[in-house]
Amino acid sequence: MKLKFAAIALIPLAMVFVLRATVPIHAQDKSVWDGIYTHEQSERGKQLYSDACASCHGPELTGGEMAPPLVGGDFQADWNGLSVGDLFERIRISMPQNAPGSLSGQQNADILAFLLEANKFPTGTTELPKEAMILKGIKFESKKNGN
Ligand code: HEC
Repeated sequence: MKLKFAAIALIPLAMVFVLRATVPIHAQDKSVWDGIYTHEQSERGKQLYSDACASCHGPELTGGEMAPPLVGGDFQADWNGLSVGDLFERIRISMPQNAPGSLSGQQNADILAFLLEANKFPTGTTELPKEAMILKGIKFESKKNGN
């Protein structure tokens, strides 16, 4: 009797372990090195970038008179350890600086894909989503596997 009760009491506990073991793996263990966007998406982003961003950040993303570069060591150091969602939100809220918030979520995701390709992070077979919550689960790491 006592034993049976103990076993029943353990069920919720066991479920917690099962959930912990399965759910967060996809959400947290991803990084920019896991092929999180497609080349096709980046090509769409390239067009959007030249229309909305290149005038300040330069056609080669190397920065301009006022605007910082969006490729290379300094840019990657700025975002290292943060999430792709943080970068997405930064762009969504404050860019293009002369018309913040004028681009749709899909357009921002496509531009972000282009920035990732320009920074030589690998392409994959699934497009980068436009949901900030999902993007927050993808780590921006300037070097593969942390440092
Ligand atoms: C009118 C000029 C202008 C345009 C157009 C513009 N930016 Fe910017 N951007 C800036 C300036 C200036 C800064 C730095 C000051 C600041 O943070 O606002 C900046 C900063 C940034 C940063 C932060 C860089 C870092 O290292 O932290 C990102 C990312 C960025 N811009 C992306 C974009 C994207 C993507 C677009 C196109 C959708 C865009 N910008 C369009 C002027 C511009």
